[in-house]
Amino acid sequence: MFTEYGELSTELYELTKPVGFEIDGDIPFYLEQAKETTGLVLEAGVGTGRMLIPFLKAGVKMDGVDLSPFMLDRCRENLEKEKLVTDLFLQDLQQLDIPKKYDIIMMPTGSFALLPTREIMLNSLESFKKHLLPGGKIIIDLLLPRDFKKGESTTSVFSLTENSGIVFNSTSLEIDWEKQRTTELHRYEKWIDGKLTQTELSNFILSWYGIEEFTLVLEKLGFVNIQHIWDYNKETDKHDTLTFIAETEK
Ligand SMILES: C[S@@+](CC[C@H](N)C(=O)[O-])C[C@H]1O[C@@H](n2cnc3c(N)ncnc32)[C@H](O)[C@@H]1O
Repeated sequence: MFTEYGELSTELYELTKPVGFEIDGDIPFYLEQAKETTGLVLEAGVGTGRMLIPFLKAGVKMDGVDLSPFMLDRCRENLEKEKLVTDLFLQDLQQLDIPKKYDIIMMPTGSFALLPTREIMLNSLESFKKHLLPGGKIIIDLLLPRDFKKGESTTSVFSLTENSGIVFNSTSLEIDWEKQRTTELHRYEKWIDGKLTQTELSNFILSWYGIEEFTLVLEKLGFVNIQHIWDYNKETDKHDTLTFIAETEK
């Protein structure tokens, strides 16, 4: 019934968050972090290349991994447009098997929250650890469900061409305090010449973790020098974006 990161979700992502589009200052923050190494960086959940492409242009040696063939196809097209080449892997983060080791594995903005269960989250962190060099870093953003309101429903219309567009509806279904996750129903409709041509439904789950809790998880997995940063170090007390940085033993 549900499709996650499907064709319409990819098309809308590309339209609303094109290559180089910044979300709350994520690109400058991550770029500064990535430039601290001359080694290899991996973006986990690379999507359409919104961040990957500006990073490659800035001289960062970076690969991408994603489990959505639609997202990766769009990423490939975006790379070709810019005449850029790098390695993209179609893999689930839970079972990464990449024949390389990285200095940094980063998962910016909402992507880590998309890992829908604690088991998948733990498996993914284990996978990251296996693919990091000694002293390598993870940089991960966490989301907190501050704005979730059960029953809230919003509809937005996005034009693609003069006679086509996507209607997107998001309905907030449930907040599960025990499992620490929110569920929204996302419905995508593609309309061409007044006719509904395609629909897609996503069971959109976002998971959250507390600061102490996530620190303990990282410690248990053997990460060291664990620190957290609010709002990409900007001078604000909004406390919207929580970034964790941790290293593997040298
Ligand atoms: C919100 S998009 C972000 C894309 C990109 N990182 C950006 O910031 O623009 C999240 C991406 O994570 C990918 N993703 C989610 N769960 C994944 C998993 N278990 N393994 C690999 N990729 C995953 C999705 O397919 C999607 O492309």
